[in-house]
Amino acid sequence: MKLLVKNIGTIVGIDTARRERILGSQMDSMERLDNAWLTAENGIITAFGTMDSYPESEVFEVVDAEGGVLHPSYCDSHTHIVYAGSREQEFLDKIHGLTYEQIAARGGGILNSAARLHNTSEDELYREAMERVEEIIAMGTGAVEIKSGYGLSTEDELKMLRVIARIKRSTPLAVKATFLGAHAVPMEYKGRQQQYVDKVCDEMLPAVAAENLAEFVDVFCDRGFFTVEQTRQIVTAAAKYGMKAKIHANELDFSGGVQLGVELGALSVDHLESSGEAEIAALKGSKTIPTLLPGAAFFLGMSYPLARAMIEADLAVALASDYNPGSSPSGNMRFVTSLAAIRMRLTPTEALWAATVNGAAAMGLSHDYGSITVGKVANFFITKPISSFEFFNYAYNTPLISKVFLRGRVYKKM
Ligand code: NIG
Ligand code: FE
Repeated sequence: MKLLVKNIGTIVGIDTARRERILGSQMDSMERLDNAWLTAENGIITAFGTMDSYPESEVFEVVDAEGGVLHPSYCDSHTHIVYAGSREQEFLDKIHGLTYEQIAARGGGILNSAARLHNTSEDELYREAMERVEEIIAMGTGAVEIKSGYGLSTEDELKMLRVIARIKRSTPLAVKATFLGAHAVPMEYKGRQQQYVDKVCDEMLPAVAAENLAEFVDVFCDRGFFTVEQTRQIVTAAAKYGMKAKIHANELDFSGGVQLGVELGALSVDHLESSGEAEIAALKGSKTIPTLLPGAAFFLGMSYPLARAMIEADLAVALASDYNPGSSPSGNMRFVTSLAAIRMRLTPTEALWAATVNGAAAMGLSHDYGSITVGKVANFFITKPISSFEFFNYAYNTPLISKVFLRGRVYKKM
């Protein structure tokens, strides 16, 4: 199976050096190629060049990009797209003045989604999640991390993780699964939170590992959710099963989760709306990726993380959607990059790297995904003809993606 894309206006997101991550100081530079072609074979990028050196080889599928931009697929390293139903009632509650924490405290929020998930069959959960999978593919995502965390019992966490495994088997997306048993304390454990943490470590983790259902572990380390010590206990227990950590940290407060993540060698620490010099200093020089989720700050009306300061400190900042029913009911990575530009002053080039290579790094996938590089998986999309690459973030709501390619094939709805 050989693919040739011709008449590409500009290829963006080229990384010939195949960097594992792109540090802040390098994020505003990017190789581009105008008036170009690209080939892929057996799902892998094999070559690209300019139209004056058009390859005359035998190909099975030729696609005319008609002057559009060719952009590497987004690598969305933080989502919760497996969930049951929706929570627009809480959306109304927020409009009427309640905060995310107030809604959670009265049994809404994550516990609301857990109750719905408990009453939903595995097949139905898969069906609902696949609608969101189709949606994010159409919006340019080619690799995605999906968390459990709406089960909160061994049985229901396994149900969620089996759905994630089924998504992995049935789509051309790259999918990574994260076990987030410590997303909230279930009602019946209120007042005995530590017992729930022990159950996560002693019962849930071994069950998840026995079925090999998760590569990563996550904990909601924040005010009103799990403490630094409980997070340490869970991350340490998970490490025995080879699971690396990706931690929800500092969304609601200066939780200490960032420093702990760095200390424990977490792959990423995510959210960071509440972070300052101490958090940036902790991350400096470490391999832990700060993953920012501006869609959540947008939806909940929170302040945005200090992305500029992080980039200036040379951190390899990543951007992800946090697609979930409570704080970010959208998986639109292009909108995330536009928000990063508008509200956090990232240039479109910095936002592209944050949402591709650095997102891939936050999933341990950057060797094969995240840039236009010979030898990487041929996941990319082409746009309608546009005046420049920057126009794509500027005209943030205009439908501009014309074709999506996954594993070197034009993607058609399953
Ligand atoms: O990343 N903060 C914790 N978890 C999710 C929200 C989950 C929910 O509200 O359902 C987040 O924002
Ligand atoms: Fe999240």
